[in-house]
Amino acid sequence: MSKPIRIRPEIAKLPTYKAGQKAAPVAGLESFKLSSNENPMDPLPSVLEVIAQAANSIHRYPDPFATQLTQALAQRHGVTPEMIATGTGSVGVCQQIVQAVAGAGDEIIFAWRSFEAYPIIAAIAGAKAIQVPLRPDDGHDLPAMAEAITDATRLIFVCTPNNPTGTVVSQQEFDDFMTKVPTDVLVVVDEAYVEFNRDPQALDGLASMNKYSNVAVLRTFSKAYGLAALRVGFLIGPEEVAEAVRKTAVPFGVSNIAQDAAVASLEHEDELLKRVNDIVLTREWFEAELRQRGYDIEDSQANFVWLKFGDRTGDFVAECAKQAVAARPFPGEGVRITIGEEEALKRILNILSTFEK
Ligand SMILES: Cc1ncc(COP(=O)(O)O)c(C=O)c1O
Repeated sequence: MSKPIRIRPEIAKLPTYKAGQKAAPVAGLESFKLSSNENPMDPLPSVLEVIAQAANSIHRYPDPFATQLTQALAQRHGVTPEMIATGTGSVGVCQQIVQAVAGAGDEIIFAWRSFEAYPIIAAIAGAKAIQVPLRPDDGHDLPAMAEAITDATRLIFVCTPNNPTGTVVSQQEFDDFMTKVPTDVLVVVDEAYVEFNRDPQALDGLASMNKYSNVAVLRTFSKAYGLAALRVGFLIGPEEVAEAVRKTAVPFGVSNIAQDAAVASLEHEDELLKRVNDIVLTREWFEAELRQRGYDIEDSQANFVWLKFGDRTGDFVAECAKQAVAARPFPGEGVRITIGEEEALKRILNILSTFEK
């Protein structure tokens, strides 16, 4: 018998990334997807125009350095272009960061539960994922994360607002934490949802990056800016970090359509951020409705809410599916519901009114 191809063992046993599912059709009901933290609003017509224009040059490779986008981002955030690295979504940039700083045997610390891609990306690099449980109130346990630092630690992810719990790390908590982090360990503040934050005490990633030599910030155009399908994310950090993260990028990873759409989105940012504000207002309404129904939830500062159904998670998601709404289950733990279309959220509230907690 021929020998099987040798796949790296850590990859063979790796679970595949689970993306949010679509709702199966239900007769007479429009289907809604609240399972991927997407922006429910249609793309801006002005951005669509730029995309149509960019489509005329798809026979050419894109600018591998995303020069115009990098410059626009530098200007927008008051940093130099050398401090920026772009990638195929912020998950792509996450992978570039890990490749840049961690190899076999190195350790990467992050809270758990948090963004599902962290353990996968760590495993791909051959690094060890050190998962530090969230506090009972779903916040990052930063003192425990500091305790977990060893000589092998190369990277720490701090996800704020955290996916899937929506909780934020406060600036004070972060400043205390940074007194315990060696300066040669990179701390990446993953701010994929930061535009939805309304908590004034929350950690400010960019201000922290200016304050500490080993802090970088991760951002995305997928959520607030509504470009999830185009795959654009970026890091802002110390020049040597950004340079290393540019080196580990897949060449030509960010398409010309994505680059131009991201630049156009920055030009139309006011309009986009008004929409973000509407999503925040919907979140506040939805949270109030949940509390009225007796759900003791933590405040979310993201475009989703987290309901800890524990063992009943599967049952609840099945009820949502019957109403043609896809929510995101984390079996045995809870359900993440994206703040999407109001009709879908109303259907969820109706289910919750009769669902046994
Ligand atoms: C915390 C966090 N970081 C990063 C990402 C990656 O998003 P994208 O690759 O679309 O930028 C996500 C996506 O869900 C996320 O939740």
